[in-house]
Amino acid sequence: MLINLSPTPPDAVMLAARLFAEDPRPHKVNLGIGMYYDEEGRIPQLAAVREADHRLRSRNRPWPYLPAEGLVDLKNKAMPVVFGEDQADDLRRRTAWIQTVGGTGAVRIGAELARAIAPDAMASISDPSWPNHEAIFRAVGARVSSYRYYDVESCDIDVDGMLEDLGRLPRGTVVVLHGCCHNPTGFDPTPAQWNHIAQVLADHGLIPFIDLAYQGFGEGLEADAQSVRIIAQSCNLIFVSVSFSKSFSLYGERVGLLFVVTESEAQAALVGERARAVSRALYSSAPSNGALLIAEVLGDPQLKTTWIDELDAMRRRILLMRAELVDQLAGGNRGANFAPIKAQRGLFSYSGLTRTEIERLRVDHAIHAVGDGRICLAALNAGNLPSVAAAIRQVSSRH
Ligand SMILES: Cc1ncc(COP(=O)(O)O)c(C=O)c1O
Repeated sequence: MLINLSPTPPDAVMLAARLFAEDPRPHKVNLGIGMYYDEEGRIPQLAAVREADHRLRSRNRPWPYLPAEGLVDLKNKAMPVVFGEDQADDLRRRTAWIQTVGGTGAVRIGAELARAIAPDAMASISDPSWPNHEAIFRAVGARVSSYRYYDVESCDIDVDGMLEDLGRLPRGTVVVLHGCCHNPTGFDPTPAQWNHIAQVLADHGLIPFIDLAYQGFGEGLEADAQSVRIIAQSCNLIFVSVSFSKSFSLYGERVGLLFVVTESEAQAALVGERARAVSRALYSSAPSNGALLIAEVLGDPQLKTTWIDELDAMRRRILLMRAELVDQLAGGNRGANFAPIKAQRGLFSYSGLTRTEIERLRVDHAIHAVGDGRICLAALNAGNLPSVAAAIRQVSSRH
């Protein structure tokens, strides 16, 4: 009966997770994950979220289904965080939205909507990108292409190549962009470069699809949303998928939002209606607990301030780990190659380690990373950093 079912290869990130889980060595280190760990190596429970949880429990409320579109309070409180106080007011009327199962759900529902709006459109994805971008767009039947983003030679972002490739795309192509903290490279365009990108998107009639999964982990909460805000001023159809998994340390609660900015209230209504129909056929409505927690935090000025401070502390700890790792690698014979780790932002770094070196880290040192060289800086702490640095120096000194 299973004759038609061929084996399904896991994507690179899932494969790294599986190899880590299967590794019996007690001192193993997981640099392959996409979660923030604190200095003690734990996934933090944010104080703002803990207080929100306490308040929700004391209200002793039932657990009804959320409405088809999700928790309106979450949307209302999140819009200014993403679009800025001024733009949010202006955009509210002409923006369709739906709460989703994590950021992944937002990308999937957005991809379904993009297919419905522009059935023949291709999706263009940065090379490299989060592997699920390609998987999701293929799953909805879209053709997928890539645009240049990273220059292997200079180990740097290639904005000129990106602009050139975007300029050659057919009108109506859906361009998937990482709003900040590009996964996996850690390199983001500057605001001036985002202005150029927005111009090319608008001039060529391209449809930006901004995936914002790490807001607050790059340069800060406001600075990280500049990409969205700049593009929202130039283009008249924009998808923005938001994940709250990392920024609230609420991974398993699966909270995400999809915004589709259109030109009018009538267009937004049409898109919103379709979004609800898509989610209805997938899982009916999104889960409520994490959404209630986040709405509670964002709706209380004091809790919101606490959350912003906690998010900033996570961001600064990662920067510290970047600087420390680069320092400890500097003496090795490939030390200079690792300097870009300091300039990259977000949870990840494209370390420049080769597949063979990543394999040696796993086999010889029980240090797990993604095969393409992506390492998660947020998994480092004062306790494990020296041994990770020593292992990297060792595997990279053979050349
Ligand atoms: C670029 C990018 N988009 C979306 C997501 C999905 O986030 P979530 O865990 O909320 O589904 C991730 C998570 O790793 C990501 O890296």
